[in-house]
Amino acid sequence: MSLFALGLLTVIIISITNLLLYKWWKPKHKANLPPGSMGWPLIGESFQFFSSNTSFDIPPFVKQRMIRYGPIFKTSIVGNPLIVSADQELNYIIFQQEGQSFQSWYPDTFIEIFGRQNIGSLDGFMYKYLKNMVLSLFGTESLKNMISEVEVAVLKHLHQWCRMDSVELKDATARMIFNLTAEKLISHDPESASENIRENFVDFMKGLVSFPINIPGTTYHKCLQGRKKAMKMLKQLIQERRMNPRKQNKDFFDFVLEELSKERTLLTEGIALDLMFVLLFASYETTSQAVTLAMKYLTDNPLVLQTVTEEHESILKSRQNLDSQLSWKEYKSMTFTFKFINETVRHGNIVPGIYRKALKDVSFKGYTIPAGWAVMVCPPAVHLNPDIYENPLDFNPWRWEGGEINGASKHFMAFGGGMRFCIGADFSKVQMAVFLHYLVTNCRWQQIKGGNILRTPGLQFPDGFHVRFSAKSSSVKGQI
Ligand code: HEM
Ligand SMILES: *[C@@H]1O[C@H](CO)[C@@H](O)[C@H](O)[C@H]1NC(C)=O
Ligand SMILES: *[C@@H]1O[C@H](CO)[C@@H](O)[C@H](O)[C@H]1NC(C)=O
Ligand SMILES: *[C@@H]1O[C@H](CO)[C@@H](O)[C@H](O)[C@H]1NC(C)=O
Repeated sequence: MSLFALGLLTVIIISITNLLLYKWWKPKHKANLPPGSMGWPLIGESFQFFSSNTSFDIPPFVKQRMIRYGPIFKTSIVGNPLIVSADQELNYIIFQQEGQSFQSWYPDTFIEIFGRQNIGSLDGFMYKYLKNMVLSLFGTESLKNMISEVEVAVLKHLHQWCRMDSVELKDATARMIFNLTAEKLISHDPESASENIRENFVDFMKGLVSFPINIPGTTYHKCLQGRKKAMKMLKQLIQERRMNPRKQNKDFFDFVLEELSKERTLLTEGIALDLMFVLLFASYETTSQAVTLAMKYLTDNPLVLQTVTEEHESILKSRQNLDSQLSWKEYKSMTFTFKFINETVRHGNIVPGIYRKALKDVSFKGYTIPAGWAVMVCPPAVHLNPDIYENPLDFNPWRWEGGEINGASKHFMAFGGGMRFCIGADFSKVQMAVFLHYLVTNCRWQQIKGGNILRTPGLQFPDGFHVRFSAKSSSVKGQI
């Protein structure tokens, strides 16, 4: 109760002090701003924006305003005037104009959590430099070698799961995916204290887009504490590694240390640590949510499960050598699985909003987006638009038949678009496909409880997703 009062007080004080500021910017652009309400001073429409819902549909906040104002409207969230775009043409322009009319931007909550020097906040030369560094780790050539690493981790975890009475999938997949990514980035050794790093990443999805009230008890506060601890551990790890450099099995840390030791390098330890932190987060939360969602869709749609299973069993059947491992060629042949993955990320909408800032006044369809305003591209509004995807709330992988859905890049933005397109998209597809391969060929499972989603607006599984696994006796390879 006192916590609530304190929070309320903070909000009221901030609102009053910002009233003047609000008056200052409001009349300036009145003429041709998109329609919409700016709500209360400072608080804006934050309460409505953060209200949770249990549906897979477009968040009610956006949906109601789309009906009232059309696909482009203005609002104000935690002190930031914001244009929301559910319009695929405008989204396309926003992505294509990166660095010209628009620039990557994150609310202050993101910046505090991700660090001021994280890759999302950087632009220009430094950004390109970091991007190339990351691409060398997650590019096609590296991915080919990664199949076998993903294989080892997946088999190990499936093996464990089949021996448990009940597995909570959100947590279990998160462990598996974190294990994989951390292996790639920092060769984390679960025997040492570093398993705790993962604990600090819990709750991030909730805290990222939340009220930035940093007092004990708030999700935001928890996130900031998590960042502090995780950064401390990463710092410690990098120092340890500096003392004991590796000659073999180099990971991203070794790569970073090599870069740092070069003369005239652009990289600083601060930037490297922020990058590491963002990569761990960006890969871990998103992919583990995608895997959990995939399991949910398979559980709820027996025909889809059957079709995926047939595809993977036929891969095994057409093998010459039964003991061989999954090859890149086999990976590439999983056509239905890729449709299933596309449908999973379309329907699941793991990323509810992608943020930018207008660098100059931008005119679009008679509206002006003023320089300095934030812009939020809303992928769910596109992915659940019935003009693009028929019966959008149906989970239907077959809709991807024939490859390109008319105008793919404008209609599919689960991994973003333009210059800032997700660096890890292919990595996450490898992880998912390899996981699915071993899952459907080796295991059966049964839902026990949970499996409901909640959007706040970030995706969550409030009561988990509990299933019981068992090994398929007919398992062709008999590995589990
Ligand atoms: C299903 C899994 C994933 C989803 C849905 C996803 C989604 C996204 C989206 C929507 C963006 C665009 C953000 C923006 O434009 O501001 C993005 C960027 C990014 N993603 Fe992912 N991602 C996933 C997996 C990964 C993985 C596995 C990695 C690790 C390598 C990763 C690393 C990044 C990075 C570093 C960026 C920033 C790129 C830039 O600013 O140029 N993501 N991701
Ligand atoms: C979710 O949103 C719908 C549509 O706005 C609303 O009718 C429903 O009550 C909401 N459900 C929850 C649990 O908030
Ligand atoms: C992560 O992977 C390592 C090595 O592959 C393994 O020893 C460890 O048990 C895994 N950690 C967890 C939490 O599953
Ligand atoms: C998945 O979506 C992407 C982006 O729209 C598209 O290029 C690709 O062809 C799709 N894959 C399948 C198998 O339909």
